[in-house]
Amino acid sequence: MIFLNGQFMPIEKACVSVLDRGFIFGDGVYEVIPVYSRRPFRLEKHLRRLQHSLDGIRLKNPYTDDQWKELIGQVIDKNESEDQSVYLHITRGVAKRDHPFPDVPPTIFVMSNPLLSPSPELLEKGVAAVTASDNRWIRCDIKSISLLPNVLLRQMAVDAGAAETILIRDGYLTEGSASNIFIVRDQVLLAPPKSHLMLPGITYDVMLELVAENHVIHEVREISEEELFSAEEIMLTSSTREIMAVTRLNEQPVGSGNPGAMFRQLHQFYQQYKATHMRGGTVG
Ligand code: PDD
Repeated sequence: MIFLNGQFMPIEKACVSVLDRGFIFGDGVYEVIPVYSRRPFRLEKHLRRLQHSLDGIRLKNPYTDDQWKELIGQVIDKNESEDQSVYLHITRGVAKRDHPFPDVPPTIFVMSNPLLSPSPELLEKGVAAVTASDNRWIRCDIKSISLLPNVLLRQMAVDAGAAETILIRDGYLTEGSASNIFIVRDQVLLAPPKSHLMLPGITYDVMLELVAENHVIHEVREISEEELFSAEEIMLTSSTREIMAVTRLNEQPVGSGNPGAMFRQLHQFYQQYKATHMRGGTVG
């Protein structure tokens, strides 16, 4: 069951006008919220980021936080899986095709898919990644539905038999096509600083909080392309992939070519955090 413009319905019944500005211009924003044991993860932070995205495109938030919470709760209830990924999407609505903002209600769409944590095999082996020049716009802090550059960049990875494309802008690491990136050098965990050139990941924030709490030596600073290529470890984070080790970069092994000690530690912290905050103590 999905939610569209005030109504719940099966996804097959959901229809949007061909004049929707999401369809015509990619004029909208979205969020992806992981749900564990039927409880949304870091919902307040996702709603804050949604507000930032809406402000970034000058679209009024159609709901208060309490209304969003209520709606997201209903979508979770109407779907079967214990762990879900809730997708929330707002466009500037339906109007005759013309670039300036129309005065019409927004289109509001919420759906949920089962959330599958990375398989033990992927955790054991890690994934491959390729690098590419970051050719996106310079408001990557807005979670825009205009994802054509991300789609093309991600397909480059798929074409190379890899799981992610890691992006470089002006000689510095920004992020992945759909994830944030961390590296390890001299046993220090490094993360690029938030800016308009990357999406401020909710999972990225969780990781930085967990490493600070656990006294892991880390630095948030610009990471050069050379540092990326000579990293001992590379990791990606996102709401749907949690944390994964990147063990091959452009067909070369990263460090030993196996997930490293830092990855194992961070993965453990994240699972522990989920267990205590989301599942009442049981590691899931
Ligand atoms: N993408 N950077 C980009 C470009 C992303 O698209 C995402 C997530 C992230 C990680 O953010 P978070 O930890 O809040 O999920 C970073 C989602 C999952 C998607 O588009 O499906």
